[in-house]
Amino acid sequence: MPGGPNPKPKRAPYRHTKPRLRVETSTLWEYPSQHYVSEKTGKAMQGDKGYVGATPSWVIWQLLQRYTRPNDLVVDPMVGSGTTLDVARDLDRRGIGYDLNPQRDDIFRADARELPLETGVADFAFIDPPYSTHVDYSDDPRCIGKLDSGGADHGAAYYEAMTRVIGELHRVLKNRRYMGLYVSDSWRKRRGKVGGGGGEFMPIGFELFSIMRERFEPVDIICVVRNNRKLGEGNRHKVAKEQNFFMRGFNYLFIMKKVDR
Ligand SMILES: C[S@@+](CC[C@H](N)C(=O)[O-])C[C@H]1O[C@@H](n2cnc3c(N)ncnc32)[C@H](O)[C@@H]1O
Repeated sequence: MPGGPNPKPKRAPYRHTKPRLRVETSTLWEYPSQHYVSEKTGKAMQGDKGYVGATPSWVIWQLLQRYTRPNDLVVDPMVGSGTTLDVARDLDRRGIGYDLNPQRDDIFRADARELPLETGVADFAFIDPPYSTHVDYSDDPRCIGKLDSGGADHGAAYYEAMTRVIGELHRVLKNRRYMGLYVSDSWRKRRGKVGGGGGEFMPIGFELFSIMRERFEPVDIICVVRNNRKLGEGNRHKVAKEQNFFMRGFNYLFIMKKVDR
């Protein structure tokens, strides 16, 4: 046996691990990351984490686990960076995605108010629409993100556009199938006003829920905790107290079912 000190034990290479996804069983959902690690491919990202306004992929994973089966057709009419398509592929579902501003070759350019898809063919639909005018998604004048959910018309044009989108989702879905809509309310400071009461609250979640209620049966309402960097910044909490408003801490996830008799 050769002498000398024992060689240092080799360290396993550092790997950033995320908790394994488990199907949620309550109406309060939380996960410490935007994305999950696929058990099938080992991929640690779905969609594009650089796309402003991208949906947390694990939320879509939860929905597809519960409301779809392998080979089902999953439709997203505002698919953005393609998150829904990647999750669908990961779970062996067929995904079809549309957007006014396609980010990749497997996304079709279309207005969500007029989907080039036959009636009654989709097994599930997911949508994460613009929440008023927070993000400039594209120069396309048809972008619903250019419509204010408050302001002078009190959101009339925004809600009219979203009524048409929800109507399209109802049309393309098969009867007795489900959809999920992920959205947040909004608050903004009124220009020129300081101090308490100087803001405008836009209850987008409840407004869109009541539009969906006209056509769909409600299945459940999930509260998804926002894993937002801004919520970790002390200065923002100070401003929220001083100006008497609340930062958005959660998104709604409305789960609806098409039940046509
Ligand atoms: C919140 S983002 C969706 C994010 C997406 N789920 C993802 O994970 O990347 C909203 C998307 O709606 C699209 N959009 C806005 N108005 C649209 C319309 N009339 N028809 C189709 N897409 C539209 C925007 O281009 C944007 O990509």
